[in-house]
Parts: sequence; C-alpha cells; structure tokens
Amino acid sequence: MQVQVISSVNEASSARFHHKTAIIIDVLRATSTIITAIAAGALCVIPAETVMEARALQRPGDLLGGERFCRKIAGFDLGNSPDEYTEQVVAGRRVVLTTTNGTRAIHKAMRADHVLTASILNAEACARTAIELRRDVVILCAGSHDEFAIEDGLCAGLVLDKLHTISGVGLEMDDFGTAMLALYRHRSTLIRETITNGMTGKRLLKLGMKRDIEACSSVDIYQVVPRLNGDLLMRA
Ligand code: MLT
Repeated sequence: MQVQVISSVNEASSARFHHKTAIIIDVLRATSTIITAIAAGALCVIPAETVMEARALQRPGDLLGGERFCRKIAGFDLGNSPDEYTEQVVAGRRVVLTTTNGTRAIHKAMRADHVLTASILNAEACARTAIELRRDVVILCAGSHDEFAIEDGLCAGLVLDKLHTISGVGLEMDDFGTAMLALYRHRSTLIRETITNGMTGKRLLKLGMKRDIEACSSVDIYQVVPRLNGDLLMRA
C-alpha cells in the first residue's frame, strides 16, 4: 500500500486524491467533533465550506454547528467543541457543520474514491477501514491558519503506525509520512502534552478551551469512522 501525507489543506490539490482513499485529519477540532457527533448517534454530518452554504443546507430539524476564529457562529446551535455533541443533543439529528479548515479539507478530497475522517479518537478503526477499502491512501492534515499543525501530524503518524501493524506489511510512504511516523513513535506516551504545546493547542488554551484539548486527546476511544456518502458523512 502506498501512503502519502499532505501537510496542510493549502498543499492539497484535488488531483492528488484520484483513485485513492483519503483520510482527513483535523484533531483540533473538526474531525474530533465529527467523530464524537456520529458516535453520539447523529444521523450524519454535512460538511459545508462557508457559513452561507451551511445555512442554505439546513433543513427543518437539522442542527447548525461550527466555528469562525474558534468561536461559535452567531445564530448557530452549536460551536466546534466535541463536548457539545452529546447523545441528548444530536441523536437522530442531521448536523450541518462549517469550520475554518476541517470542512474545507473534506471538500478538497471529494474526488477521492473514499473519504474517511480520522482523529486521535478513532485512529485504529480508521486504519482498519482504509485497509479494507484496498486503495492507496492519501492522508490530509488540515492544519491551522494555512499552516501545518503538529497535532494533525501526530495523528497522521498514529494512523500510519496502525496501518503498518494491522496490514502486517511495509508501507510505501513519502518522506513527510516517514517524518510523521517518527514524530508519533517519539511522542506516543506524550500525546496530550504534544497537542497542548502546539500552536493550536496554545491558542485554544488562551481562549479557555482546555477541556476541548482533553476531549480530542484520548487514543482510540471510538470505533466509528465517519465516511463520505455523497455529501454526507455517515458511519462507515
Ligand atoms: C478548523 O476546522 O479550522 C478547526 O476545527 C478550528 C477549531 O478548532 O475550531
């Protein structure tokens, strides 16, 4: 299996996803929130690129969620904190979600044969699903402020480690993938510290969102793998 890792959404062109399985990672916080919502029983998450598009996609009964500048958007039901997406709130509901980088990254990858969303919370389940899909893989780290974000690279390394263990064969990785696997193996016992000390982690801390970092840092607590089905992210 060949695996490429893209460092941020700005580095991604649609052509790179042809005939591939795309794995989108935005640990802080979009893909962690999507996974939490689906695990809590949301029917689906609909990723929207803009606030206007999100409002247009909303049907009666749908929840609107997302952030700009890390804050809940005026008039929306929910922000981008995983803890807001509880069973009580989202079970049986569709969620339309727009975030600065994460939902944009999902749209970038739409030409892939399969689009999966991963975070620290479901890395092993995501790796297993990717192997079952029998395509080469492109991992897209969404990043933050148009730049690479260490928490996404750490998660890419975790997914690579799981792909390697589960498939039992060597992966053909690009150099960035090799670097992210080394990063993960070097920091595997310090996941939360690494996330907290990154630029995005520090930004969230300043905004009083320490709890969100905790909610995004637990390894493999979920088995769900949200997968794009048309325009909707649903349980794989
Ligand atoms: C994003 O999509 O840019 C992030 O999820 C931003 C955030 O942490 O809210």
